[in-house]
Amino acid sequence: MYVCGGSVPTLNGRSLELRVMTADDAEALYRIWGHPQVAPWLGMPPVSSVEETRLLIDQLLDMSLEEDNLRWSILGPEGEVIGSCGYNNWQLEGAYRGEIGCELAPECWGQGVMKEALGLVLDYGFDKMGLNRIEALCHPDNGRAAGLVRSLGFRQEGILRDYRHLPSGFQDVLLYSLLSREWQ
Ligand SMILES: CC(C)(COP(=O)(O)OP(=O)(O)OC[C@H]1O[C@@H](n2cnc3c(N)ncnc32)[C@H](O)[C@@H]1OP(=O)(O)O)[C@@H](O)C(=O)NCCC(=O)NCCS
Repeated sequence: MYVCGGSVPTLNGRSLELRVMTADDAEALYRIWGHPQVAPWLGMPPVSSVEETRLLIDQLLDMSLEEDNLRWSILGPEGEVIGSCGYNNWQLEGAYRGEIGCELAPECWGQGVMKEALGLVLDYGFDKMGLNRIEALCHPDNGRAAGLVRSLGFRQEGILRDYRHLPSGFQDVLLYSLLSREWQ
């Protein structure tokens, strides 16, 4: 697991907390990852049960042991799980690069929650993990995600054609990036 005291570090913002994702978050994350307003944008086949969500969480935790993935659950003011975010992949050697991903419960959209959460993730990536370049891949129709990453200073670089394959077929994605020297 990415070491900072031997575990995924807890990151605290003004109104939310990011902490290591656990199997106990499966019910809340199933409601979010499986939500019809969220699932189409995730770039993966939708989860179909709490059990499948638990298996996915286990896989993500295993991958963070190998240090190529790093995921946090996002806790709201009452300590409830309202989303997740982190690095879908990252590497230092030969690249110093990572790719972020995020999802939020729709009832929390439009309140600046993910902007705050990703601010913590970007601070951590540039300052503690030593990344130089952070990427975000957004579906071309996902205006909310594009607005979010642009508001954080990401720039669009181009379209990756037929980049993903899902049950619905091949999918283009927009590539955005932010460099360490551009992040304050
Ligand atoms: C994308 C998502 C994470 C955004 O979360 P959010 O908490 O609603 O975003 P925020 O409220 O923090 O918005 C941040 C910025 O995006 C902008 N934004 C929000 N909705 C927007 C929209 N529909 N169009 C354009 N920009 C938008 C806001 O104006 C804000 O910028 P500002 O601070 O400069 O005003 C959320 O909608 C979600 O979970 N969507 C489904 C999953 C998904 O798309 N994940 C990303 C995959 S790449």
